[in-house]
Amino acid sequence: MLKVAQLSKSFATADGAQCALSQVEFEIRDGEFFALLGPSGCGKTTTLRCVAGLERPDNGTISIHEQVVADAIQGVHIPAHEREIGMVFQSYAIWPHLNVFENVAYPLRVCRPRLNAVEIDTRVREVLALVSMEEFAERASTVLSGGQQQRVALARALIRQPSLLLLDEPLSNLDTMLRQQMQHELSDLVERVAITTLYVTHDQTEALALADRIAVMRDGAIVQIGTPEELYERPQTSFVASFLGRANLLSGRLTETEDTSVIVLDNDGGRLRLPLLNDSVPGVRYDVVIKPEDVACSRTPPGPDKNVLVGIVERVNFQGSYSECHVRVAGTTIRVRVSSASSVGVSERVWLTINPERCTLFASR
Ligand SMILES: Nc1ncnc2c1ncn2[C@@H]1O[C@H](COP(=O)(O)OP(=O)(O)OP(=O)(O)O)[C@@H](O)[C@H]1O
Ligand SMILES: [Mg+2]
Repeated sequence: MLKVAQLSKSFATADGAQCALSQVEFEIRDGEFFALLGPSGCGKTTTLRCVAGLERPDNGTISIHEQVVADAIQGVHIPAHEREIGMVFQSYAIWPHLNVFENVAYPLRVCRPRLNAVEIDTRVREVLALVSMEEFAERASTVLSGGQQQRVALARALIRQPSLLLLDEPLSNLDTMLRQQMQHELSDLVERVAITTLYVTHDQTEALALADRIAVMRDGAIVQIGTPEELYERPQTSFVASFLGRANLLSGRLTETEDTSVIVLDNDGGRLRLPLLNDSVPGVRYDVVIKPEDVACSRTPPGPDKNVLVGIVERVNFQGSYSECHVRVAGTTIRVRVSSASSVGVSERVWLTINPERCTLFASR
């Protein structure tokens, strides 16, 4: 449905050219909910703007429904208003001088061929009903809550029945409660209208919850594409692993014994005994990724023969049914989950048991 190939884009800045995108490639199938996920500045918005036609790529091609809308080499650039796209920006860009109805009607009032007043009225009321805002049609847009503004922005993006919906961090201005509620509403909505969606976020929980597939971006490039399960369970780099699971990253050097691999962690952080690695060379540096839920934390030393690291609790974040503790082990901080009833306190000494089966190893760069 959407095909992006070899997309590159640089911006001229005072310090010279700034490369924002390099060889970005992905394909989205009809009806798919596809997320671009990555840290601030990795090129998510630039990718979306190229797809929308608001930015001209330096290189690469973009096709929507087999139609080439951008081809840098051939000089093809279909203008934004001729691409069948609805878009919601990071800030909703609701017009304060127009009421809810007129905000949503605007794209219909400027489109050609012209629609008559009855047709516009019907379409606007239909799409407002879709986002549960039909009673607010006559309301001034300056007196809407964040969630309501977000719904109006969505309704406006959908009013021309686009074949592709582009959403750039549409929930980022909302508080946590509303964000979660809107997440559900959004996923219900795109399912009901069966629209292909490209969703940009830096929030991994949002991407995992909403997307059929996710492309993880870093420094202007895509590092891995997969379903939420694939990325979570089989990350191909330590960056993807730590970005997706809020996982811990421990670094050290491999020393080999006969039947196990031993990683000697940096800064006298301790040793981890792991299943024997294939093709490993003693002396090579590794990143060990382990999720907070795969580290057990106890206030007394566990038995011998375990992968145990000793640390001091730096911080305890209450999360309801559990608490997340930050434990200082040598030079690094390891996040672990403890039951809220366990009353582990700051400055306390604790023993962390690392489950070797749950560790993922990557040779360090
Ligand atoms: N108009 C511009 N002029 C110069 N540099 C730009 C411009 N737009 C983006 N950039 C640079 O390109 C890179 C990618 O920016 P982009 O806005 O795509 O990131 P992002 O992933 O959307 O980040 P965020 O999560 O903070 O919104 C950044 O380094 C940014 O500074
Ligand atoms: Mg952005």
